[in-house]
Formats: sequence, structure tokens, C-alpha cells
Amino acid sequence: MNLKQMVGIEAATHVKSGMVVGLGTGSTAYYMVEEVGRRIKEEGLNIVGVTTSKATEAQALALGIPLKSIDDVTHVDLTIDGADEISADFQGIKGGGAALLFEKIVATYSNKNIWIVDESKLVVKLGQFPLPVEVIPYGSTQLLNLFATKEMAPTLRRKENGDIVKTDSQNYIIDLQLDQIDSPKELGTWLSSLPGVVEHGLFLDVVNTVIVGRENGPETIQV
Ligand code: A5P
Repeated sequence: MNLKQMVGIEAATHVKSGMVVGLGTGSTAYYMVEEVGRRIKEEGLNIVGVTTSKATEAQALALGIPLKSIDDVTHVDLTIDGADEISADFQGIKGGGAALLFEKIVATYSNKNIWIVDESKLVVKLGQFPLPVEVIPYGSTQLLNLFATKEMAPTLRRKENGDIVKTDSQNYIIDLQLDQIDSPKELGTWLSSLPGVVEHGLFLDVVNTVIVGRENGPETIQV
């Protein structure tokens, strides 16, 4: 079993019948969704899922997980999602899979958030992983220029074939190579103030529990 699978299966043990569960996106969350699907089929687990991307929605539907839109539930009990980087003070960067907008919306309305990562995602300070910023197409070149003048090494995210990546909301992603983020809150506030920025990948004061995949087993950290 690989580390992502290990934490995905471990996280699924936190899911209980009767819960509304936010289902994250990415290669780690994938294993959690598979395990939730297995428990529904084999153990009679009874939950409603709220997905954070079209990809997770397709996976969950194929597994027979009952789903509702975030707009059709009164609350979300628990969201389980991956992360790209987690700092020593448990702030995070997400959006490597371009799903940051829905992920942040679901996390915001969730009573509890669990992040599942392999140990390579733990860092002292955020910033080695490029910070994703979701922007609307109109004005995106101006935003790229602005970020370049601030020496944030921006790149417009593209697919291997050169096409511009579009998010589930048909927006673009600009990745900022910042190397070290000293003041994540200040940076997040500034990014959110820019016209055309829809969301950024700094997930601050969001997570309650981190499950880390280590060679000798999963470690659960309460934040
Ligand atoms: C999706 O946009 C992301 O926020 C993912 O949750 C994050 O990139 C972690 O993905 P992996 O589990 O694939 O590393």
C-alpha cells in the first residue's frame, strides 16, 4: 500500500453514518473516496457526499455515493481533502489540481476539516510549492504583469499540449513561485483584493486534523 492510499483509508474511518461529508480532490483524496464507496457497498455506511470538483463527482457517482450540492445541504459535518504543502503552524497551500475554489467553499462550510498527505508535503514555511491563484480570463494578462512586477515569478498554467488549463468554473490558474511565504495572511488578503482574482490557494486556519502517511504507518495530528 502506498502512503497516499494509507492515509486515504485511515481518513475514511472518521466518516460515520448520518454525516454530510465533503469529498476532496486529488490523488490522495482519490483513495479516501474509493474507501468511502467501499464502505457504502460492503458495510451499509449511509452518508451524503458533497464533492469539490467534477473529477471527484464522476468518481463518487461511479461508486454509487449519494451526492448533494453544497447549496442543498444545511451543513457539512466533515471534509477530507489533500494538500500540496502544510507548514509547521498548519497553514496550507492547495490547488495543485486546480480545484481550489470549490475546495475552499466546501471547507469553509464544513464543521471539521481533515487533510491527508504523505510526509513529503510537510514543510517549515509555505512557498516552495507554487501558489495557485484562480483568475477570470478577462484581465488575466494584466494580473500576470502585475505579479511579474512584484517578482512573484507568475506562470499561466497550461496542459502538456500547450492549452491553457481551465478550472471547473472555466477560469485560469496563475501559479506564483514565491519560494518562501513569510506572511501568508497578508499575502492572502492582498490577492483577494485584486479585481479578477477569484480565489487563492492559501488555506489559512482551516484544518482541524492532519493525517500524515509515514513509512511506519499513519500519524494523526490534532491541530
Ligand atoms: C486540488 O486542487 C488540490 O488542492 C489537491 O487537494 C492537492 O493538490 C493535493 O493533491 P494530491 O493529493 O494529488 O497531491
